[in-house]
Amino acid sequence: MNLGSEIREVAKKAANLLLKHDFARIYTHYDADGIAGGAIVAKALLRAGKSFQISFLKGLNDFELEGDELLIFVDMGSGYSEKISSIDSNVIILDHHKPDGEIKPKKTLVHLNPHLFGVDGTYELSASGAAYFFARELGNNRDLASIAILGAIGDKQKFLGLNGEILMDGVNSGCLEVRRGISLPSGKLSRSLAMSIEPYLDFYGKEDELREFLKRAGLEDKEFDELSASELQRLADAIALRLLKLGAYEGVFEQVIGKIVLVKNLPVRNSSYLVDIINSCGRLGATSTAFSILLGDEKALREGIEIEERFKREILEELAKRRNDIREGFCIRYLVMDDAPSTSSIATVFSRYLMPDKPLVVLNVKKDGNVKVSARTTEKIARKLDLAEVMRMSAKKVGGVGGGHRVAAGANIRKENLEEFLKEVDRLCCAMLA
Ligand code: C5P
Repeated sequence: MNLGSEIREVAKKAANLLLKHDFARIYTHYDADGIAGGAIVAKALLRAGKSFQISFLKGLNDFELEGDELLIFVDMGSGYSEKISSIDSNVIILDHHKPDGEIKPKKTLVHLNPHLFGVDGTYELSASGAAYFFARELGNNRDLASIAILGAIGDKQKFLGLNGEILMDGVNSGCLEVRRGISLPSGKLSRSLAMSIEPYLDFYGKEDELREFLKRAGLEDKEFDELSASELQRLADAIALRLLKLGAYEGVFEQVIGKIVLVKNLPVRNSSYLVDIINSCGRLGATSTAFSILLGDEKALREGIEIEERFKREILEELAKRRNDIREGFCIRYLVMDDAPSTSSIATVFSRYLMPDKPLVVLNVKKDGNVKVSARTTEKIARKLDLAEVMRMSAKKVGGVGGGHRVAAGANIRKENLEEFLKEVDRLCCAMLA
C-alpha cells in the first residue's frame, strides 16, 4: 500500500460518515490553512446538499462545543486528544498538527491526519489538503484544489508528495497554473516590495533605499503582476542579493524565487497575495470576510484588500520597533511584548529573514495576564529540534498548553509563569540540539 492510499481510505470513511448526516458543525482554525480548509469543507457540503454552521477558533482550550450529531474539526483536534475523547457526538478530524495522544471516542471518530499514516504533515499535507482529500471523496470537487494549495502556501509547505498530487489535480482540472516567477504580493512594484512580509525585504519606510534598489535593477515602478520575463529575472537577482545581505535563512530562496502558482477560479490570481489577504483577515478577526472571499464574493475581496494593508502596516511597524528588544538565551532568542497585534508573523519574519541561526520564541503578554507564545525555527534546525514538543512540554510544566509543528509551534501560559517557561524552553532546546 503506498503512503497516500491509506489517507484516501480514511477520507472515504469520513465522506461516508458525513453522508449519514444532514447537518454538520464545523470548527476550524483562524489562520490561512484553517480558513481554506473550512471553505473546502463548506463548499463540498453545500454541493452534497448538506447544511452546516462554521466557527473560526484560535484553539480548543476553554471552548464549549455544541452538542450536535456530527462535528468536523479542521486544522485542529489532533492535539487535543482529551477534549475530543470527551465529545458525545460523531467526529471527523481533518488536521495536520502533531497528535498529542490516543483519542478514545465516545461515538464514531474518523481521524484524517498525515502524521498517523507516515506522511509528513509539516511539509507535505496541510489541513486544507486533508480537507481536499475528504472533499474529493464526497463528490466532483477537484476545482477545490485551488483553495487547498492556499493552506499549504500559508503554512510554508512544499509541493511534494500529497501536496504535489493536489497541485497536479488543480493543473489538470484547469483551476491552477504553475509558472516561473517570484512570490510577492500584487500592486505597484514599490508597494509589493515594501509591503511584503513573506519574503521580508526590509524596505518598509525606506523609500530612498527602495528607489535606489529599483534603479540599480533597471526596473520601473510598474505593476508587479505585469512584469516581463526579463524584468522578473532582474528582480529575482536583486531580491536574492537583498536576502543574502539581510542574512536570511538559505531555505527561503527557493520558496521566494522559482515556481509560483496562479489561481484561475478565484478573484485573485496571485496565490501568495491571496494567502496574504486571507491570513491578514484571520489575524485581525475578519474570518468571515476571508471565508466569503474563498467562496468568490467580490465585495468581501475589497474589504479583504483593505484589511491586508492595515494588518501588514501594523506588523511592519512592529518589526521595526522590536528589532532591538530581542534577547539572547543559551540556545534560543526571545522577545517579550505587551499587547502586540500578533506574535506569529513577527516570530516568522525574525526567525527566517533576520536571525535564522537560533530558534526564536515570541511572547505577547495580554492585559488579562494571559500570554500567547509563538515559537519558530528553520527547517534545518528542526531536523534536530521539535518545537511542538518543546512548546507542549514547557507549557505543561507551568500549567499551560502548547503544541503545533516542528518548525512552527505555540503555547498559552500565564504571565506569572513566563520566566520559568522560558527557562524550560531554553533547557529543552539545548538538550535537543546537543
Ligand atoms: O499561533 P501560532 O501561529 O504561533 O501557532 C503556531 C502553531 O502552533 C499553529 O499550528 C498552532 O495551531 C499551534 N499551537 C498549538 N497549541 C497552542 C498554540 C499554538 O498547537 N497552545
